[in-house]
Amino acid sequence: MIPQSFIQDLLARVDIVDVIERYLPLKKGGVNYFANCPFHSEKSASFSVSPSKQFYHCFGCGAHGSAIGFLMQYNGLTYVEAIRELAREAGIQVPEDGRSASRTDDNIERLVEIMTAASKFYRETLEHAPGAAAYLRKRGLSPEVAARFGIGFAPDAQTSLQRVFPDYRDKLLNSAGLVIDNDQGRRYDRFRNRIMFPIHDRRGRVIAFGGRILENGEPKYLNSPETPLFEKGRELYGFFLAQKAIRAAGFALVVEGYMDVVALAQFGMENAVATLGTATTPHHIQTLLRQTNRVVFCFDGDEAGRHAAWRALENALDVLRDDVTLAFLFLPFDHDPDTFIREKGLDAMREAATNATPLASFLLDTLKQRCDTTSAEGRARLIFEARPLITRIPEAASILRLQLIKTLASASRMTQDEVEQALGFARRTDAGVTHSAYGSRQPPLTRRSPPSTTSTLLRLVLQHPALAARLPINLIPDNTDEGRALIAIIDLVELGESVTGLGALSERFRDTPHGDTLNRIATNLIETEFDPSAIEPLFEDTLRKLKASAIAQEISELGEHMRAGTLSSSGQRHLADLLKEKNTLLSFTKAPDS
Ligand code: UTP
Ligand code: MN
Repeated sequence: MIPQSFIQDLLARVDIVDVIERYLPLKKGGVNYFANCPFHSEKSASFSVSPSKQFYHCFGCGAHGSAIGFLMQYNGLTYVEAIRELAREAGIQVPEDGRSASRTDDNIERLVEIMTAASKFYRETLEHAPGAAAYLRKRGLSPEVAARFGIGFAPDAQTSLQRVFPDYRDKLLNSAGLVIDNDQGRRYDRFRNRIMFPIHDRRGRVIAFGGRILENGEPKYLNSPETPLFEKGRELYGFFLAQKAIRAAGFALVVEGYMDVVALAQFGMENAVATLGTATTPHHIQTLLRQTNRVVFCFDGDEAGRHAAWRALENALDVLRDDVTLAFLFLPFDHDPDTFIREKGLDAMREAATNATPLASFLLDTLKQRCDTTSAEGRARLIFEARPLITRIPEAASILRLQLIKTLASASRMTQDEVEQALGFARRTDAGVTHSAYGSRQPPLTRRSPPSTTSTLLRLVLQHPALAARLPINLIPDNTDEGRALIAIIDLVELGESVTGLGALSERFRDTPHGDTLNRIATNLIETEFDPSAIEPLFEDTLRKLKASAIAQEISELGEHMRAGTLSSSGQRHLADLLKEKNTLLSFTKAPDS
């Protein structure tokens, strides 16, 4: 666990503008900075970074967050990884149980050196291994493409890596996954007599290997285990080499095998990547969606391929967006991309990719096949099966979700409202009016104060958190999400926590209802940038309005007692005071504030 106080200090010490500038060219426009959004493809710069709020927001796709959020989204890091990365860039040590951060980093660098040295050794070995070279020729691999992918060969010997690493007992060789220690304490090479495919990370560093047996045998492919460098669910084989081609082609092709990626590249399709013997994860998809807005998943045309495609679909739902297309390509039976492109050629492969089935069709067609929609039971089952899938589609793909709902409605002979209710999207109010509940879940406002007062205060505090200490917590109405968020912020400040703006607060409230509130209103928040000289007068003025409305509330309560004849004489004196105070406040508020 990284302490929350450390995260807040870290966010206070870095500047989100510097952090993002390392990845994107930012242009200043007014008080904010702008760039083309890295999270969706666009030509106008709708990605904005606010230095005062330490928050970024894209008006196009809605992406937003703190410096930590940016590193997570841009580099596909986990929360903890993003914090580590941010701390590393800032030269700050992350406090943690026993293990110091710098020692871990040292090890990572050593592991990369080891993998690079091993990769070089395997490549050199291939040059003097006629059997392996013959196998590659037989598979139709050109020497050029083999060199491009750094393909090598691991000799058929127990401890050949000893030649590269004189200290063959080095613990790090095991951490790198290159050797196996058996029960008798004997150590030998993990990869023997295999064609070696180095796996690169996004920066082009060798982090793992896949090794194919020559001819037939089990296992056909042996992969590096998960190591500090290598997490299968994150990495894509060929991604480093394919990045440019993905942007140029306007789409990424995801295939299943090493050989497929290499063969496709050899025949001119360089925008292909492969998952590493795992299902496609949301991480994989997000990595690709940073390069392009179209991803085509390619599967063999058999039952196993259909299964794998469905798993990919399920994993894709969480990262769907209305500005991206995910499509599924099923190759003819008995083909994989390697054999297909060799036999039918590049144009046929391109055409197949162009005509791939879009996610929504694949989803609906598959569900309809499973359910006999000529019967009431079948139509009910259709909705039942659709429910867990549709409900996972996020707000960013709300239009596509609506399309799916409409199609489901006609297939199930129900109205759109009925389907939405069955899926749990709609709720019925007392008045019997159906409200869409996708977006705001706010209860209807009971007007205790003008809604703008709370929200103005929240905006002010998010730009200038020091103001929170001056807010009377008991006067903030708690009947709105914004009011409750404001109260929570004041609580933090009263407890002595340092807060430095929207970015820091959205991290502080990550995974809480207040975090949701801040994220929901982020669009408005980043747009309202108060002129520093206007902050104090506006704050005073809003504070007066808040007090005035609290007083007005009290006055109306006392007034009711008075009309009912139940107001004591001290109550009457209090009422008179309140009326006087209200007038004073109002005379201030009405004063011209130029
Ligand atoms: P395939 O069995 O389809 O192999 O596995 P392939 O890519 O067509 O290989 P060739 O053409 O026979 O040489 C697809 C992918 O699944 C993973 C590998 O990533 C492989 O490329 N796999 C397969 C393994 O990790 N281990 C295995 O034993 C088999
Ligand atoms: Mn194959």
